[in-house]
Amino acid sequence: MLDKPGKNCPEYAKDNWDDTVMSLREADEALLSAIQAFVAENPDPAIGRFKDGIADWGEEWRQAEPVHLPAAETLSTTLPTAPDQTRPLIEAFETHKASRKWEQSYAKADNVVGDDMLSGYGFAEVIGKHGPFVSSLVRSGIGVWGPGIDYPSHQHAAEEIYVILGGVAEFRMDTEPDQDVFVRRGGQSVYVRSMRTHAFRTLDEPLCIFYIWQSGDLREKSSFSASVS
Ligand SMILES: [Fe+2]
Repeated sequence: MLDKPGKNCPEYAKDNWDDTVMSLREADEALLSAIQAFVAENPDPAIGRFKDGIADWGEEWRQAEPVHLPAAETLSTTLPTAPDQTRPLIEAFETHKASRKWEQSYAKADNVVGDDMLSGYGFAEVIGKHGPFVSSLVRSGIGVWGPGIDYPSHQHAAEEIYVILGGVAEFRMDTEPDQDVFVRRGGQSVYVRSMRTHAFRTLDEPLCIFYIWQSGDLREKSSFSASVS
């Protein structure tokens, strides 16, 4: 249970905490519905692998205290480059960005990503091990990166799909020489099988990615090919 309103989110610092909790749940449910509709309606075969998991994520909802990161303010800057099919999902997160628990997977002490990444990225989870919709089967939410960020080569046991909602990124898939480096834009996806080494960097635009993980430890820390000095 939350014991106080999120101090970083003034719109939730209300006197009536029962109403606040209801607002949090309604926001979470709105985003779950937006994600489920986006996945169910998407004709991309790569996304099809994840449709059952997203439809049957589980049953438990848990309050997740709002936490702010600069990436929350970058989110809206990805809207101008979003195609019609992905813009509504960005807009749904933009509407509820203040009630999100914005997170980062890595810290400076981990020595695996650079300051560019730590200062300019964040993700907001909707389904996953830590909730708000608690699932040990599937993990899903959005991630936001500012321009000029390098996400170094890493791997994890879960299979994953990135769907670019807005912006552009250059991906590196280290195990398929004929597709070593390629650019993906809004509406396009990148499928990453279990333990496949992958990386990307943002170019001159901010980036918003919708992600799904399944079939692995959903909070596994990725292993990196090199450390950052
Ligand atoms: Fe990944």
